[in-house]
Amino acid sequence: MSNPNSGEPPEPLSDTPPTHQRRVRYSGKNPRRYDQKYKELDPERDPATIAKLLAAGKTPAGQHRPILVQEILDHLSPQSGQSGADVTFGYGGHSEALLGQIGETGKLLALDIDACQLSKSEMRLQALGHKEQTLTVVKSNYAGLKKVMSQLGWTDGLDFLLADLGLSSMQIDDPDRGFSYKHDGPLDMRMNPNRGASASVWIARCSSVEKLTRVLIEGGDDPNAARIAAAIFAARSQEPIETTMQLRRIIERILPANVSDKTLKSTLARTFQAIRIAVNNEFSALDSFLAQIPSCLRPGGRVAILSFHSGEDRRVKHYFRDGFRNGIYQEISPDVIRPTAKETGQNSRAAAAKLRWARV
Ligand SMILES: C[S@@+](CC[C@H](N)C(=O)[O-])C[C@H]1O[C@@H](n2cnc3c(N)ncnc32)[C@H](O)[C@@H]1O
Repeated sequence: MSNPNSGEPPEPLSDTPPTHQRRVRYSGKNPRRYDQKYKELDPERDPATIAKLLAAGKTPAGQHRPILVQEILDHLSPQSGQSGADVTFGYGGHSEALLGQIGETGKLLALDIDACQLSKSEMRLQALGHKEQTLTVVKSNYAGLKKVMSQLGWTDGLDFLLADLGLSSMQIDDPDRGFSYKHDGPLDMRMNPNRGASASVWIARCSSVEKLTRVLIEGGDDPNAARIAAAIFAARSQEPIETTMQLRRIIERILPANVSDKTLKSTLARTFQAIRIAVNNEFSALDSFLAQIPSCLRPGGRVAILSFHSGEDRRVKHYFRDGFRNGIYQEISPDVIRPTAKETGQNSRAAAAKLRWARV
């Protein structure tokens, strides 16, 4: 991973072969801890488990399956020798597909705000033969894209630009990150764990029930937002809310005892999502990114954005539509593009994805 200010070389790839380790034994029939449960964490170790998970439409832990890859390639149309950026690098799945199109003479700038995965993904792509001259990886918020480009001397503009918003599967699946109501862990939720306040602190500092209600509506569209906000305020006056399971139980308590599994899961998911969006200032980062896109592209350059909920998609749609009306964009996607039933069957995490594109 390079830092455009430091000129640091990327970390070298380790050539030490991994030593074999026995799988941890657990008592009882089923594993309890995350590291025991997800024995597929190391795909080399248990390819049969990986194959079974993939066939069931699930994502093996420690991996992320890129969504709408062919549709993104069709609309970004990356060509041999072109320059582009993937501002949400994650596991590098989309970057891998883009690098395959631009070849050794092309250049891809990959950004991610989360340092935890950045070097691993960079090494993964280097091991596939994508060299340092072709792939530049920088830890940055996509709101800083223009600045990173100017620091790197990428002043000619990009031929294509991709953003795949939200969380990677690795972030969701790691209990230590506190993003998921499914695993117990610290209520953290920071995309950049070294910066800003955790979700626990954010909740403790939230100034009013009304503010929390607004956050839950804007980031989660939850019909129970006001009741959930009131319950969180009541609970935090008793004790600090420090874990994902504490938050989960607070939400569960406001729902009727006979609530359906579907409503329970969607209420939990919406509340966790809305708080995560607030903790990471995701809407303001997205607004700032959307505003700078035209100045990052060269004439004819294309952008594609994958979003996962209405608050994000509304912003993308309005920026593209206003840009088209003002003559900034020459063409925009007439409709939102959704994954096919086949893709969602193969990858359940693709279900909410919405793709829009534009050309300057
Ligand atoms: C859905 S994942 C991207 C997965 C990637 N397309 C792939 O194929 O592996 C979203 C990624 O965006 C990153 N991210 C979220 N907000 C960001 C921001 N404001 N700036 C830069 N990266 C961000 C997350 O850390 C996460 O790794």
